Amino acid sequence: MPGLEQRPARMQMGTPNPQELLRSDHSCLEALFGELLEDFADGHQGEIRSTWTEFERRLLAHFENEELFILPLFERVNPEEAAAVRAEHAWIRQLLSELGVGVDLHLVRLELARDFIGFLRAHAKREEVLMYSWAALTLDATARAAVAQGLHPSAPNQGEASPPAAGTDRPRFGEPPVARAGF
Ligand SMILES: [Fe+2]
Ligand SMILES: [Fe+2]
Repeated sequence: MPGLEQRPARMQMGTPNPQELLRSDHSCLEALFGELLEDFADGHQGEIRSTWTEFERRLLAHFENEELFILPLFERVNPEEAAAVRAEHAWIRQLLSELGVGVDLHLVRLELARDFIGFLRAHAKREEVLMYSWAALTLDATARAAVAQGLHPSAPNQGEASPPAAGTDRPRFGEPPVARAGF
């Protein structure tokens, strides 16, 4: 899977920028999902399963990182937005689980996968506008290092996508739990 090991966000010595790192991770997830859509279009079940497994692992690691190192701090200053991000994580995890079952059963349709990436893009946009901007200005060196280490565990421990198209098409997953502001 080309590009997965790329780390376009650069960690400056001692001060990794969490906004840059997390946005870069969004881009990597977006690229990975693009591969998945191609696999769906080709109908190669082996490739779909392999790419899906990698995508799922990385997405869950991304969420876990945000929930461990950013949200506990962010919710002190903006509890409403933090709760919305957590609710979207719960919603996306549920969709991920449902889609995973579909992948196992070879039942995921391309349009369903496109709906899912639409939710992810909206979630990513929301985080980048508020939470990541706050994190870039606020997180101390320890928290920044924790985010970097969480995203790239093998790294030395030193211390846009468009929103889904609006339209009359209703998502086939039902509605997300909170209004979409913008993964
Ligand atoms: Fe998130
Ligand atoms: Fe994120």
